[in-house]
Amino acid sequence: MSVTVRVPAKVNVQLAVGAARPDGFHDLANVFLAVGLHDDVTATAADELTLTCEGPGADQVPLDRTNLAARAAIALGERYGIEPRVHLHIDKDIPVAGGMAGGSADAAGALVACDALWGTGATRDELLDICAELGSDVPFSLVGGAALGTGRGEKLQLLDVGGEFRWVFAAADGGLSTPAVYGEFDRLAQGRAIPEPEASPALLDALRRGDASALAATLTNDLQPAALSLFPALKDTLDAGTAAGALAGLVSGSGPTTAFLCADEESARAVAAVLTASGTCRSVRVTTSPAQGATVVQR
Ligand code: C5P
Repeated sequence: MSVTVRVPAKVNVQLAVGAARPDGFHDLANVFLAVGLHDDVTATAADELTLTCEGPGADQVPLDRTNLAARAAIALGERYGIEPRVHLHIDKDIPVAGGMAGGSADAAGALVACDALWGTGATRDELLDICAELGSDVPFSLVGGAALGTGRGEKLQLLDVGGEFRWVFAAADGGLSTPAVYGEFDRLAQGRAIPEPEASPALLDALRRGDASALAATLTNDLQPAALSLFPALKDTLDAGTAAGALAGLVSGSGPTTAFLCADEESARAVAAVLTASGTCRSVRVTTSPAQGATVVQR
């Protein structure tokens, strides 16, 4: 018996980062938007916990118990007294180590797939609790749509989105480690007063109205200077996408994927063509948002 769950990638349309906390994390005002790039996670009953992965960048995905998807199966099993005898297969489409929450998506997918396979009867809130233990972005991967994440990003408030937004994503040649980018943020912030992170009312209003121009004018990512400092070539990709007519471009989360918000489908296709020809990135995708959260697609 097996269950397949589809889980979306995310882009942060606002990522306001506060000062480092005593536990090493940073308080955030993190406006997540789920986008139409997905990983599929299939859980199949097996003799023991095993993991396989296919798709672009699969060779960089650890296949042992350090993988967040394996940790999700273990955490769910521990909570409900079930041995995690399961084979997890990840069909990857979300860039690996790209700042689009691919690892978090796989954890949310594995959790929902194992939950359906084992029939634990867990409530959504219980699943969200386990998600928050696994990582700051994992709860959002479960819920999808759009949400404001506070705390370290795990406390979610769902947001209304009044229309569809068009995006182009440029995957970079290489990855960035999230802790390294936060470390660089701290280094760059030394000697500066860091304000409390707060969601932008203008940005939330643009989302609510589905207004792409207004959203483009309010996109911000406080991790962008740190990502650019560690990966300076991203500036060329950002310049190429905005010169090609994107309303705005920014680094997605901790990067190095770059995201370009476009006025319509035609403009997105034109931006994608220019980015592909520019030689400044590894691959380019056109998609829309919002996308739904972790969903069982086959059982
Ligand atoms: O929660 P998650 O495991 O995804 O976080 C990965 C790393 O990113 C943390 O170890 C920390 O270095 C950094 N981080 C942070 N503040 C956050 C979220 C993540 O400093 N709010």
